[in-house]
Amino acid sequence: VRTDLSELFYFELSPEKNILSLHRQNSNDSGLWVDFVSEWGAYRKQRVSGTDLLARATGVRRGMKICDLTLGLAGDALKLVYLGAEVTGVEQQPWIFQLVENALERVKDLEAGRKLKIRLGSSLELIDELLKDHDVFYLDPMFNHKRSALPKKGMQYLAEIAEEADEEALAVMMKKIIVAKKRLVVKRALKAPLLGELKPSRQILGKIVRFDVYN
Ligand SMILES: C[S@@+](CC[C@H](N)C(=O)[O-])C[C@H]1O[C@@H](n2cnc3c(N)ncnc32)[C@H](O)[C@@H]1O
Repeated sequence: VRTDLSELFYFELSPEKNILSLHRQNSNDSGLWVDFVSEWGAYRKQRVSGTDLLARATGVRRGMKICDLTLGLAGDALKLVYLGAEVTGVEQQPWIFQLVENALERVKDLEAGRKLKIRLGSSLELIDELLKDHDVFYLDPMFNHKRSALPKKGMQYLAEIAEEADEEALAVMMKKIIVAKKRLVVKRALKAPLLGELKPSRQILGKIVRFDVYN
């Protein structure tokens, strides 16, 4: 995990609203924070439903226990909660984790707050424990951003803060999940090669991304 981040970024906490935001040093951009209330509203406005690509890939149903192995800013995890799942999200980068933790504190009495649990740590290390009580596993490792035009602000920050995934280690974890006969969904850039050597049983294609489904 990178240690030089404080040279690049700093946190600010607005005391009246309890909003933690991350800002670039020596810049006047408005910063990055996570707001589950507005994201939830956006999912409702878009009428996100079972036809959504992530919904189809995971087969999400009410009460399903899904583990998001690479939580990031929790956009996908929140969508799965919106679609009825109970989600455990694992994030290894402490700065990113804190932004999500702060967002969760602000919705603790809402459905998002009750059905999304988060853990700081590497899913590579926690996988044996996580396998015991989840039905579906979701993996969205960091894409190589160098070629993409202008990803969303959150993804820009993520690309700077989070490390790129160790694909070999991820492939070992994938095998464990598949051997345990749990469903695994991997998000990839549309044209990216498969992650690991195993063939997915299905692929769900979007315009920019695809979901590789195993089991
Ligand atoms: C592409 S982002 C995920 C974006 C997320 N799906 C969203 O909707 O915001 C990948 C995230 O996974 C985290 N990550 C990478 N390897 C991890 C691991 N082994 N355990 C936990 N988190 C990991 C990175 O720090 C990064 O925040």
